[in-house]
Amino acid sequence: MSSKLYAHRILILDFGSQYTQLIARRVREAQVYCEIHPFNMTPGEVREFAPSGLILSGGPSSIYDRGAPMADKAVLEMGVPVLGICYGMQYLTHVLGGGVAGAADREYGNAEVIVEDDLDLFHGFPKGSAELVWMSHGDRIERMPDGFEALAGSRNSPVAAMADRNRGFFGVQFHPEVAHTPNGTRILKNFLFRVCGCEPSWTMASFVRATVSELRERIGRERVICGLSGGVDSTVTAVLLHEAIGRNLSCIFVDNGLLRRGEALEVSELFQEYYRTDFHQVDAADHFLSRLRGVTDPEEKRKIIGREFIHVFEAKAREIGGVKYLAQGTLYPDVIESVSFKGPSATIKSHHNVGGLPEIMNLELIEPLRELFKDEVRQVGVELGVPREMVRRQPFPGPGLAVRILGEVTPERLEILRHADAIVQEEVIVAGYYEKAWQSFAVLLPVQSVGVMGDERTYEHVIAVRSVDSLDAMTADWTRLPYEVLSRISNRIINSVRGVNRVVYDISSKPPGTIEWE
Ligand code: XMP
Repeated sequence: MSSKLYAHRILILDFGSQYTQLIARRVREAQVYCEIHPFNMTPGEVREFAPSGLILSGGPSSIYDRGAPMADKAVLEMGVPVLGICYGMQYLTHVLGGGVAGAADREYGNAEVIVEDDLDLFHGFPKGSAELVWMSHGDRIERMPDGFEALAGSRNSPVAAMADRNRGFFGVQFHPEVAHTPNGTRILKNFLFRVCGCEPSWTMASFVRATVSELRERIGRERVICGLSGGVDSTVTAVLLHEAIGRNLSCIFVDNGLLRRGEALEVSELFQEYYRTDFHQVDAADHFLSRLRGVTDPEEKRKIIGREFIHVFEAKAREIGGVKYLAQGTLYPDVIESVSFKGPSATIKSHHNVGGLPEIMNLELIEPLRELFKDEVRQVGVELGVPREMVRRQPFPGPGLAVRILGEVTPERLEILRHADAIVQEEVIVAGYYEKAWQSFAVLLPVQSVGVMGDERTYEHVIAVRSVDSLDAMTADWTRLPYEVLSRISNRIINSVRGVNRVVYDISSKPPGTIEWE
């Protein structure tokens, strides 16, 4: 792993908090490498990770719950500084012999703590200052373990922060990682830089350097194939590999006929003409469309597309021949989702379109982005000189426009959707919403409605426009696009897309709605 090249590394032990990923984001933003692992990581594994500091996350349990997550106490005895957050602090208190008790009231939301110390953790905070913090806990510290002193207190939690400087142990009852704790980042940085002695060396420039040399060493003169989708993750994966091994990377781009307008051309221009990779485009639109003929069930569509993709991709890979590795754009959130908290045994999520290929073809996987968050991947793209339009691209589902045409996918209906979708894209970009929104697109509904154009009565298709704001696609809310933008989108679609006489805007959030309509 390239991360081994970073001398300063923070280990986050996950006790199940909804904010654990945010802790990791904040640490990375401070340019310190970190990883999240389950709370029950063994002392041997912790030693091997060789952390400069340990952060114990919050979690939904009470320390007295049956089956409450407990880390092995030996990880606290390695001389590594520790910061316990919320449940992490209560765990620390409990195992070190202090007392944790149920608070009179559950404290949830904003609270004020008075900072009583300005050394390491609260360096730069005037003594006696009131700090706004985010609390979310039932239990609280009643008696600190021997050797600890209080650093801050609130009305409900007299010990809102504590430290045993001799052993390098710190605890905060509140959540410094969330935006509702305005100075939380300063507290985390104080822990990283003043307590753990980390240096801010995790930058995407250093990641690229380290990863490129590591990829060269691992791959040698072997051949790697990489499937391109036009999305950010596969683009950056391929460019990174191209940087490392040049023509020993073969890129395969399957045009399944379900792409947006102009997308196939953009991909081929970038990889064939700009990067001059060993680029193989398979024009399989007719093949996919004939398999999709008459199919209306969303899951059936997904299955057919996934299966055909593997067939086409595999045939091309065999034709190229002599391939040892398959490169994939797996990101860190996918990795954490599958291993964190529930423990390493939880099933790994299957990825996008490459299904069982590695097994079928006996290929080894290369996942150079598996340590990165999405915004870090975009920065890597910038670092590698990938054009901004590619780096900033919104996510697009593997099954493409097929899941945005409700009902049967036909060439005519694809053409209508493509045209309407291109208008949505253009207007959202011009209005400055493209990079703010998570996704913005058009959906073709399987209904016709009555309208009037000129003196004629019409009976034509309906386009739904969907634009959502989201951080991770797990939850989403509809984008508050200005009326003028919606109006321009609607007018342009109705005036120029033949066969459409009505446009509606989807104002459902997720949950209960999903982002895609199918
Ligand atoms: P939903 O519709 O479940 O989508 O709210 C969440 C995110 O995942 C994308 N998505 C897919 N991506 N293959 C993909 O690669 C798929 O089958 C698929 N279905 C949904 C969707 O665009 C959104 O970003």
